[in-house]
Amino acid sequence: MYLKRNSPYYPYYTSALGEAFLCDTLEFLPFLRDASVDLILTSPPFALKRKKEYGNEEEDKYCDWFMSFAPQLYRILKAEGSFVLDLGGAYKPGFPVRSIYQFELLVRLVKETGFYLAQEFYHYNPARLPAPAEWVNVRRVRVKDSVNVVWWLSKTPNPKADNRQVLRPYSDSMQSLLKNGYKAKLRPSGHDISEKFSRDNGGAIPPNLLELANTDSNGRYQQLCREHGIKVHPARFPPQFAEFFIKFLTDEGALVYDIFAGSNTTGFVAEKLARRWLATELSEEYLRGSKFRFIDKDLPVKLAKRATRAVAKENFQMSLFPDKK
Ligand SMILES: C[S@@+](CC[C@H](N)C(=O)[O-])C[C@H]1O[C@@H](n2cnc3c(N)ncnc32)[C@H](O)[C@@H]1O
Repeated sequence: MYLKRNSPYYPYYTSALGEAFLCDTLEFLPFLRDASVDLILTSPPFALKRKKEYGNEEEDKYCDWFMSFAPQLYRILKAEGSFVLDLGGAYKPGFPVRSIYQFELLVRLVKETGFYLAQEFYHYNPARLPAPAEWVNVRRVRVKDSVNVVWWLSKTPNPKADNRQVLRPYSDSMQSLLKNGYKAKLRPSGHDISEKFSRDNGGAIPPNLLELANTDSNGRYQQLCREHGIKVHPARFPPQFAEFFIKFLTDEGALVYDIFAGSNTTGFVAEKLARRWLATELSEEYLRGSKFRFIDKDLPVKLAKRATRAVAKENFQMSLFPDKK
């Protein structure tokens, strides 16, 4: 178990493989055991000056605020564990100049807390709308901002990872090359491409640019939230984002923790991939809506209806799958 004996916390809801807590993560963290988590995967509230509804800190205080979590995150992570942090970019309010908070935060996490930067990723959303309108649409002096940085941090230089778990389908040209064979030769660039190049490894090794459009506005979670008058979380990451890192960095049964769970995309994906999960979230409304993700489509209709009604009603401590526990 990951919770210490003296923990006063009781889950807001549970599922077959996970527990979600309604709390301030900073207060919750001291009650987690040392080296109990395999992967911390999260997207914190962003450091935008124009405050959004989900609680952004002022940019200048942001790094200090985040750093107050860092020693605890380091402590609860297993030696071979990973901490993956998705951070959106921000303009300085009133100027067409970017904040460098993501980079400041990275430097502090490495230099002050002792994390290694295992690799940086870029999370590209081609469907992102042009913003801020003033610089991009009106004055036309900046282009669309469509990447988030993702820092993959670790406690040792060799965190657990296996890129064979996240191979992509080969391109058409690679497939025809595999079919027709390849003549080993020296490339004009000087690269010596050997016969090994034409070995079928089951797929292509993915790059550190993750192209994932977040366009799903009619999914089941959103639909059920709307039906029951619960606010849909405005800053969810796409399920494929969580899927990539969970598969790449953990095995089945591992514990995946989202410290700013929002609509609990991480927990939901972890459960589908047979990993255990832990979620903490400050907003009751978001956490209540996130329960809808765990209503099993294959439950008999009557049971599913009862479960949705119970979620919509303020039945906070209900376990959706009490029998599976
Ligand atoms: C960017 S959202 C996460 C969205 C999530 N990845 C998803 O897919 O739904 C950040 C979340 O952090 C929560 N949050 C902010 N401060 C918190 C704190 N101190 N403890 C717990 N949750 C917090 C906010 O309420 C917000 O829902």
